[in-house]
Amino acid sequence: MFSLTNKVAIVTGSRRGIGKAIAKALAQAGANVIVSDIDLSETQATADEIANETGQQTLAVKCDVAQKSEVEEMVKATVEKFGKLDILVNNAGILIGKPVLEMTNEEYEKLMNINLRGYLFCAQEAVKSMSEGGRIVNIASIAGMFGSPVWALYCASKASVISLTKSLAVTLAPKKILVNAIAPGLIETDMTKDLLADQKMREYLLGRTPLGRPGQPEEIARVAVFLASDGASFMTGTTVVADGGWLAG
Ligand code: NAI
Repeated sequence: MFSLTNKVAIVTGSRRGIGKAIAKALAQAGANVIVSDIDLSETQATADEIANETGQQTLAVKCDVAQKSEVEEMVKATVEKFGKLDILVNNAGILIGKPVLEMTNEEYEKLMNINLRGYLFCAQEAVKSMSEGGRIVNIASIAGMFGSPVWALYCASKASVISLTKSLAVTLAPKKILVNAIAPGLIETDMTKDLLADQKMREYLLGRTPLGRPGQPEEIARVAVFLASDGASFMTGTTVVADGGWLAG
């Protein structure tokens, strides 16, 4: 039921972190995987590692998701190599921590261009090649479900991803393309390294997490495999929360 044999999947921002774990888990489930990121050298290394560990075919592609031409090239390269595209995981994202009243125009542009416009560009381009149906999994965040004095615009960008997920779901349902999101809580990656290294911040973040620990990228990857699989065949437009209990408290 959770097999992805013969499927072809793109994971954006997957040279490291949650994206890498998702790409590896999709390959372990049987998919051939396109590992894409803005930095090709590390991306190639990750693609090679996944191919060696799983025996699946991988393709490393340099793609800045905020550049439409690069997104078009990524999907073109995918179809040229594998003949089709079944799964898109929109994962590439950045965090800018800054009070909402202090955000500059440049910071707004940078954050939204990657965290929202990038997701839109990739979805728009991917669906053109999903002629027999498909799956889109958008990595949102529980930050899209609350406000914050320090992560204000990041919260807004992730709320936008949750909303975009619903609009894409109702738009693409007739094409049998199912679109869902995952809202992770605190996950231990490069993005959260500095936060977790700060003792006061660490105590605050873990205090907010009833399970008392940060999640691991693999714990999000397993949810992504589920949403990409037949196990989620009647799910579209929804956001699955994986947050160690943060929102329950
Ligand atoms: P990370 O910083 O380790 O990985 C993000 C990846 O995206 C990097 O490889 C980076 O090079 C790539 N990237 C950045 N800008 C890009 C662009 N313009 N085009 C293509 N790739 C780009 O971060 P992490 O933690 O793995 O985050 C992955 C996703 O999960 C992000 O969307 C993030 O917002 C989300 N998330 C992370 C949480 C956490 O606690 N780590 C919690 C909730 C959501």
